[in-house]
Amino acid sequence: MLNPVLSPAIFSMTALTANTTPKPDSPYNRQDWQRGYQSQRHETDYWLEADEIVGEIPAALSGTLFRNGPALFERGGQSVQHPFDGDGMVAAISIDAGRAHFRNRFVRTEGFVAEEQAGKFLYRGVFGTQKPGGWLANAFDFRVKNIANTNIIYWGGKLLALWEAAEPHRLDPETLATLGLDDLDGTLKPGESFAAHPRVDPACAFDGGQPCLVNFAIRPGLSTAIALYEFAPDGQLRRQQAHQVPGFAFIHDFAITPHYALFFQNPVAFNPLPFALGWRGAAECIRFQADQPTRILVIPRDPQSGQPVRTLTAEAGFTFHHANTWEIDAETLAIDSVCYATFPDVEPETDFRQINFAALPPGQIWRCQLDLAQGRVERRQLLARCCEFPDLHPARVGRDYRYLYLSCAHSPSGNAPLQGLLKLDLETGVTQDYSFAPTGYVSEARFVPEPGATTEDAGWLLQVVYDSQRDRSEVVIFDARDVTSGPVARLQLRDRIPYGLHGCWTPHCFVR
Ligand code: CO
Repeated sequence: MLNPVLSPAIFSMTALTANTTPKPDSPYNRQDWQRGYQSQRHETDYWLEADEIVGEIPAALSGTLFRNGPALFERGGQSVQHPFDGDGMVAAISIDAGRAHFRNRFVRTEGFVAEEQAGKFLYRGVFGTQKPGGWLANAFDFRVKNIANTNIIYWGGKLLALWEAAEPHRLDPETLATLGLDDLDGTLKPGESFAAHPRVDPACAFDGGQPCLVNFAIRPGLSTAIALYEFAPDGQLRRQQAHQVPGFAFIHDFAITPHYALFFQNPVAFNPLPFALGWRGAAECIRFQADQPTRILVIPRDPQSGQPVRTLTAEAGFTFHHANTWEIDAETLAIDSVCYATFPDVEPETDFRQINFAALPPGQIWRCQLDLAQGRVERRQLLARCCEFPDLHPARVGRDYRYLYLSCAHSPSGNAPLQGLLKLDLETGVTQDYSFAPTGYVSEARFVPEPGATTEDAGWLLQVVYDSQRDRSEVVIFDARDVTSGPVARLQLRDRIPYGLHGCWTPHCFVR
């Protein structure tokens, strides 16, 4: 089975080479940006000294920010073809009583350990990284290297590093040591996958208002199997169902309301032949079909409901990440997503570091309103600014909400690297933003609610920023009520954290 897992494109889905010298007034510089994609082999842990904390950590902020992302971009002198082929490294930033502790570790996956010993790539990467030896060495090698690099969650007392085409890896939350593959107490059979984008329903209608973790798994093929899993706070499986949908599906993320799970089946086609023959990585065999619609799958979360899976169609476009979805009434849903006009081809034999940002479509926020009775979708753009990595108050997941937080480009239009933080008030349309341009480059921001507070934006936003001039990263803390004024605290780390993907906040602090 081919496993064309794909993770968010965001910076570099295609590597269009362009010999552009950045304009003097450009908010970014490609050479500066590239430095954030150097490997980080140094594993460390330390308490930050007082002079490494600029500003003041809010006294009520206590817990751990876990982050995951690729952090190894070459072996034996060979570069990965795409950063998403890099081995996952987890960082934990623990905050308590105004102090901060940092720790980072690579996930010791089977492939990572074997390749460390060999000093070279032993597996093909989904995004085109080939084993040494040319196409003959790669042909008909369908082994999947679980690189555990996309997300990390803490649920049911387990810390799990996720990669969407394989099983989770369990880590020790205190030391970040890898404990091994985790089948979720027997829920996953050997070799089954578990997506990297779980959602937490804060008050599950089927479980007496208890929170529940909802996630999915995709088995791609000529038709696609979608499995849906729901877990209680103690990690026990509560509900499970599976569906077969027509056609190849490339689905990275989904969204939930109290009663439905929503999936966007992007209009893409997959030609497995160049992959099988060892010429290309699986992701390089995907082609966007501009003449085909996006299919929106609406799956009832209650397997006993007797309701069918419904499929609606919308204009072509490509989505990795959804912000939120909710039920306007029994037959009307809304979903906010980061949409791209097209999915750029992943080009073989190009260097992702030479990306021409301006030649690619930006991710923009769109709202789709779904009329389930009529089978109609109305679509409108909420924000033209290039953005990615949406987040919101965890209590509003699956509910109507007011505030959406995003990582964004510096300029109001065009595609560019992510350099800032943006807050969008969906009620008024007013935005607040803060930019780290020209030298700072950001990853995902996470919203952390203030304990005991009731207003939706009472809390903090935590974001990792790469300082390209010092070649180090910072964890910055914003007051979510006032993004424009900039961070209230900057935790200056001693090393670089390469551009990451996803992570989570937990109010547990694991440092002894
Ligand atoms: Co993602």
